[in-house]
Amino acid sequence: MKYNRPRASDKMMAVPKHTALFLLILLAACNKATPPSPIKAIATREEIMHHLVIPNAKVVWDASGTIYTKDGVTERSPKNIDEWFTVEASATTLMEAGNLLMMEGRAMDNGKWIERALALRDASDAVRQAAKKKDIVGLFDRGGDLFETCQACHSQYRFTKDEMKTRSY
Ligand code: HEC
Repeated sequence: MKYNRPRASDKMMAVPKHTALFLLILLAACNKATPPSPIKAIATREEIMHHLVIPNAKVVWDASGTIYTKDGVTERSPKNIDEWFTVEASATTLMEAGNLLMMEGRAMDNGKWIERALALRDASDAVRQAAKKKDIVGLFDRGGDLFETCQACHSQYRFTKDEMKTRSY
């Protein structure tokens, strides 16, 4: 029987096959080794509303607008760098609250809920940009947009049982 010496090209073919197999095994091992995400939703949706969203939205809304009383008209505005910074900080917190609402364990679905939380995040970012620029008209207008994102989510997810409640934000 004639001995067929393996040709160089055969050897070369063998290497990539083994390499591919090795990589596949490595990939599988890596997949298994990936630790679960350490991120976990701890506060309830209601707590996120009460401890992050409501107080910070109040700071944003109280910082602009016109107040009419029997004694006259007052135009509200942050008065110095510190007060603008406080508004910016609240807008930043609201923006990140949008991210927190999207987390597994808080998101009520993977569709509209995510859209509503993204709207909160984007509107808060716009408030934040206005505060950075110390733009009082922008702060008022973007504050209005922010209010609409609260309502949009609530009309769908908060007031499903009692529709009369849609009158509040
Ligand atoms: C992505 C959805 C979503 C957005 C955006 C959102 N909320 Fe809420 N909010 C909820 C849900 C859901 C509840 C009901 C929470 C519960 O009882 O579990 C709620 C409840 C509330 C409550 C009532 C809490 C109570 O004790 O009954 C207030 C007040 C509130 N939100 C304020 C706001 C404000 C202000 C904004 C905007 C700056 C906002 N929310 C944006 C989903 C949202």
